Amino acid sequence: MSLPDKGRSTEELLAEITRLKREDLPVRGGKVTAYVYDTGRPEVHEAAARAYFEMLEVNTLDPTAFPSVVEMEKQVVGAVAELLGGGSGIFTSGGTESIMLAVKAARDARETAGRPRMAVPVTAHPAFHKAAHYLGLVVDAVPVDPVTFRASPADVEAAITEDTVLVVASAPSYPQGVIDPVAGIAAIAAARGVPCHVDACVGGWLLPWLREAGADIPPFDLSVPGVTSLSCDLHKFGYAPKGASVVLFADPAMRRRAYFASASWPGYTVINATVQSSKSAGPLGGAWATLQALGREGYLELGRTTLAAARELRAGIAKIPGLRVLGDPESALVAFGSDGGSGSGSHGDSGGEGVDVFVLSDEARRRGWFLQPQLSYSGIPANIHITVTGVTLRGVEAMLEVIAQSVEAARERGPAKLPEGLVELVAGLDLDALDDAAFGELASAVGVDLGGSGQPEMAVVNAVLDALPADRREAILIRFLSVIYS
Ligand SMILES: Cc1ncc(COP(=O)(O)O)c(C=O)c1O
Repeated sequence: MSLPDKGRSTEELLAEITRLKREDLPVRGGKVTAYVYDTGRPEVHEAAARAYFEMLEVNTLDPTAFPSVVEMEKQVVGAVAELLGGGSGIFTSGGTESIMLAVKAARDARETAGRPRMAVPVTAHPAFHKAAHYLGLVVDAVPVDPVTFRASPADVEAAITEDTVLVVASAPSYPQGVIDPVAGIAAIAAARGVPCHVDACVGGWLLPWLREAGADIPPFDLSVPGVTSLSCDLHKFGYAPKGASVVLFADPAMRRRAYFASASWPGYTVINATVQSSKSAGPLGGAWATLQALGREGYLELGRTTLAAARELRAGIAKIPGLRVLGDPESALVAFGSDGGSGSGSHGDSGGEGVDVFVLSDEARRRGWFLQPQLSYSGIPANIHITVTGVTLRGVEAMLEVIAQSVEAARERGPAKLPEGLVELVAGLDLDALDDAAFGELASAVGVDLGGSGQPEMAVVNAVLDALPADRREAILIRFLSVIYS
């Protein structure tokens, strides 16, 4: 865009936004089973949007200038602490920032002889790797059980070293929706004098309601001895607009370690609870309003429908020949793979009843549904991930129907056909010698349109990525990002 000479009217701008969003996935209606969380209650989203707008211009940079921010944040954090075992918290922009702050607090709580380290199950969210990358820690990966996908306390203990400043458990972990044995892991951590963070980003505002609705949910929050911090995203199962998460610390001294202040310049004094400094209070207003618009009753009702939908979905998938649900998830996240897929590097192309899950995902997208593909990793096969939300129950039969049709279609099409030598070519690419334009041309030469939109066929891309080791995948993904923003 070049800046227009004259200002344009609001109507014109909104019409243009509508045009820009034409190829976007829909954020309502339940056909997109990742990224978005829909209550199915428009009035709740309306309340959140209006409160967001009301707080939009308020800057949380200076809480003395805008006391509304302090009061609202105390109320929101207080509600989360009340549900999740107490503690002192910070309202952040999302799971990644909550995790970043928990890692920073743990790093700064103790001097280590070598570089500080974290014991992190392989199923934990990449936000821990990102925090380690930004904050100078080393990640010690903890394997998970290949059947249950849970990390064992013994394996976590084996990963603890003299320099370990934090151990991590997820409630649940995103990929298969299973809850790590938090009590066992936290007890080991406490015995070794190491803080334990529970990543309840996706589960914190879900599991208590599922439990109340009848699900068997083990203790996972700050009331568990040894748990020192916990992250809970309100922009996931809190159904708040994006930019809303809370990190809780059992000890207020740990919360102070997450804070940052600077008086080392001649400008205004800087006191930051979060990574961002100037920031809109819109997300805080949106989260505050969503909590109040739904209330206990609303969340419990959403918990009931979510639980019913997740059960129906798991049972329905198990009946589709060629598919199997991975693990025994207690939460509302369901991952399924192909009977033909076993272990890293396989996305289900080994014949029999198996189907290529990446082709299956493309087939579902053609039918108007987004089912999220996940690459194989650490012995866990490639699979499809569905986040069940408040609206899923109304459409669960339709979703199962589409999955069954997509399986059939994927079986007919067969596995993604990779041009001969493509994986080897990508594996051996000297990325430093290629600029973004050359990378884009190379991709289109092998049939991958990186500038495309709408209904992209991703099976080939996913199959190539799946065949590469993680560090190569990362290098290619970074290049992809650079190309699409060129
Ligand atoms: C378990 C878990 N932790 C952390 C995150 C990161 O959250 P965000 O995308 O809000 O940064 C996610 C996101 O899905 C998650 O599922």
